[in-house]
Amino acid sequence: MAKNKTIFVCQECAYESLKWLGKCPNCNSWNSMVEETKIVGNSSSNISSNSLPKSILNIRSSEYERFDTGITELNRVLGGGIVKGSLTLISGAPGIGKSTLLLQTANSISKKYGKVLYVSGEESEEQIKMRGDRLEAISGELYIVSETNVEKIEEHIENTKPVFVIIDSIQTLFKHSITSAPGSVSQVRESSNDIMRIGKTKGIPFFIVAHVTKQGELAGPRVLEHMVDTVLSFEGERTEEFRILRTIKNRFGTTSEIGVFEMRESGLEEVLNPSAVFLEETGFQNEGSVVIGIMEGTRPILIEIQALVSETKAVMPRRTTVGIDSSRLNLILAVLEKKLKVPFYNCDVYVNVVGGLNIEGTFADLGLALALISSVKSKETNLEKLIVFGEIGLTGEVRPVAFGDRIVNEAEKMGFKNIIIPIRNKEKVKNKNINIIGVSSLREAINKVF
Ligand SMILES: Nc1ncnc2c1ncn2[C@@H]1O[C@H](COP(=O)(O)OP(=O)(O)OP(=O)(O)O)[C@@H](O)[C@H]1O
Ligand SMILES: [Mg+2]
Repeated sequence: MAKNKTIFVCQECAYESLKWLGKCPNCNSWNSMVEETKIVGNSSSNISSNSLPKSILNIRSSEYERFDTGITELNRVLGGGIVKGSLTLISGAPGIGKSTLLLQTANSISKKYGKVLYVSGEESEEQIKMRGDRLEAISGELYIVSETNVEKIEEHIENTKPVFVIIDSIQTLFKHSITSAPGSVSQVRESSNDIMRIGKTKGIPFFIVAHVTKQGELAGPRVLEHMVDTVLSFEGERTEEFRILRTIKNRFGTTSEIGVFEMRESGLEEVLNPSAVFLEETGFQNEGSVVIGIMEGTRPILIEIQALVSETKAVMPRRTTVGIDSSRLNLILAVLEKKLKVPFYNCDVYVNVVGGLNIEGTFADLGLALALISSVKSKETNLEKLIVFGEIGLTGEVRPVAFGDRIVNEAEKMGFKNIIIPIRNKEKVKNKNINIIGVSSLREAINKVF
């Protein structure tokens, strides 16, 4: 028999307690416990209950069947398109363009494969139509409904029989059987469970929008991230037109790919050659500026990195970074101070990656070090059209990076004249139209450039 029980649930981490607590003992957040009613003894499972264990040899498998979304950048991030029956979460700050991206995707899929259902809990049908007109996303097979009740949504799916469903957003959905408000942990979890069940049993792929908190975490429970197959994050500065789509988790592909878009009035335009766009406004040989090459997934990207070092009397000098890990900056500053005797203790240091990209990994180390030296010495680099990549070790040595040859190819293609790379990467490249300078230490690189 099902029985109701009152519990308190942390809205950050889904921790459950029998009494109210000011601070969640699990995730330490304050004031996050909310009273909810739990139905005991009536747990529903996600996958049909009549399935029996089978030998793995007897399970029918086909290569993942994928929908081509018609958007190359999105296909790339998903690992080659949308897998049938998969559940994808797309998160991003307010107004970044989630609904825009999904409406464009829905339109393109409906033109190619048939009915697509776009369920919005945030906007009316007219509002979506207006956006559709602006984006020219108007296919006859694109169905729109404003609905927040999960049971009703299931009915609509039953009746419309779409090949693809979009839910905008999970935080607006609710089930009558749960008493707490939409957006609470229980509602989000139960609604997602239902959606997953519908998707997996009918083989329909779902895209679900999820809002993020100010800190950039998924609002509501982290459990959501574990349930879905793929988590995408849509990032960018709202004041700039570039948007970057990144994979956080993917059960059907790598997580290192990014997709680059530009926000226009007519919607999101794909940026198929990000290097060209990121370098558009670069004035080469500027003080404190160096162009670097990095790999984002399987794609080389060339981007400008800027450093500004200015003297200060403050006891605690500033270290401000945008687009680069601040611990990486601290490490490089320490190497420069210790091995090359360049003082930074009395300087504020600002570092910026142009274009709003977040650089991960160690590709940027050498370029960042050169930009810092350039700013501190107030000297520009003396090599024309220069590009740099390489990792710096704690002894001041320059270490090779993976896929260096691809970055060199890209740099040659983009018309760079000089490239400074780790000596061990140089052994593997044979490009003719670019001057390749191999270095084994930071000191050697600095001597070549200044
Ligand atoms: N007429 C327009 N011209 C250019 N850009 C526009 C125009 N209208 C909207 N935009 C862009 O679209 C963005 C809003 O897009 P969208 O509604 O898809 O965002 P969202 O992530 O779904 O937001 P929310 O979190 O509110 O649901 C705006 O921030 C703006 O950059
Ligand atoms: Mg929206």
